[in-house]
Amino acid sequence: MGIEEQLTGVLARAVTDIDSADSVKEIEAIRVSYLGKKGEITSILKGMKDVSPQQRPVIGKKANEVRDELTAVLTQKKERLEKESLQKQLEAETIDVTLPGRQVKKGQTHVLTQIMEDIEDLFLGMGYQIIEGNEVESDYYNFERVNLPQNHPARDMQDTFYITPDVLLRTHTSPIQARTLENHDFSEGPLKMISPGKVYRRDTDDATHSHQFHQIEGMVIDENITMADLKGTLELLAKKMFGEEREIRLRPSYFPFTEPSVEVDVSCFKCGGEGCNVCKKTGWIEILGAGMTHPNVLEMSGVDSSKYGGFAFGLGPDRIAMLKYGVDDIRHFYLNDQRFLTQFKRKG
Ligand code: PHE
Repeated sequence: MGIEEQLTGVLARAVTDIDSADSVKEIEAIRVSYLGKKGEITSILKGMKDVSPQQRPVIGKKANEVRDELTAVLTQKKERLEKESLQKQLEAETIDVTLPGRQVKKGQTHVLTQIMEDIEDLFLGMGYQIIEGNEVESDYYNFERVNLPQNHPARDMQDTFYITPDVLLRTHTSPIQARTLENHDFSEGPLKMISPGKVYRRDTDDATHSHQFHQIEGMVIDENITMADLKGTLELLAKKMFGEEREIRLRPSYFPFTEPSVEVDVSCFKCGGEGCNVCKKTGWIEILGAGMTHPNVLEMSGVDSSKYGGFAFGLGPDRIAMLKYGVDDIRHFYLNDQRFLTQFKRKG
């Protein structure tokens, strides 16, 4: 068979192959097998060496025509297949824009964070600074520097998570008193700070105890600060937390870092003082501990206690939240149950 006939035959076979191909991949394979370097057309043209010089241009032209034709048919089929597969894909991925969107559950501020932020706002408004402390603290700052002597019961292994004999998880936010005092430059004005944060005690968790809870420490040191300043400040705090009609009363107490020390009660926000189950029929609810800063605490931080003095207080946001919202188990705050947490939507 002459080369021309062979070329015509190849074209016919290729077109049949292309017709029955149904993927772009197959088309590509067909292209390689006919038009490729080792393809059929190339191998047919190897016979050119036996062709007479007059015939060569004729066969060359024919070969070009066959190549062009084949390329055109391949391209056409390839485009059709691509269009079809795109169409199929579009149909499969149709989006129904009329379907309602999925509801995204929005988170919200945790009730304890709400309480702490409210308290921070109150004190920021009165010119206090907010100081963050470390939860991992030294025994020295946690106890010694706030005038807790070596044999004080609060240093008992029962109550404190010791990491090493000298390092512990702070049991209260009071070490912040010493840390801010020693850094404060009194020539620039009084020291007024609050410090909210987590504290840790080796308690067995139950309805009223958690091994981790929160405190907010507060301290004001300047010249001529009196217990009346302390009382006025805490009165504001109590009103902010429990309502404008609230009153407070101070009862004598003991803390190593304050002298005198007081326990602070707020008039019952439920019964208004008449006596109910919340205030255990006394009309008063204990909300925090406070007192006038002990001179030892000032002196150990390098502050002249004959010139400067002031007050400190420590309150527990967990307890405040339990009282305020009638929560009967402190563990609710730490279980992250949405059914509990979503009840405390912040207003506004
Ligand atoms: N640190 C005390 C406690 O944990 C609270 C307190 C702070 C009392 C500051 C008085 C002054 O119980």
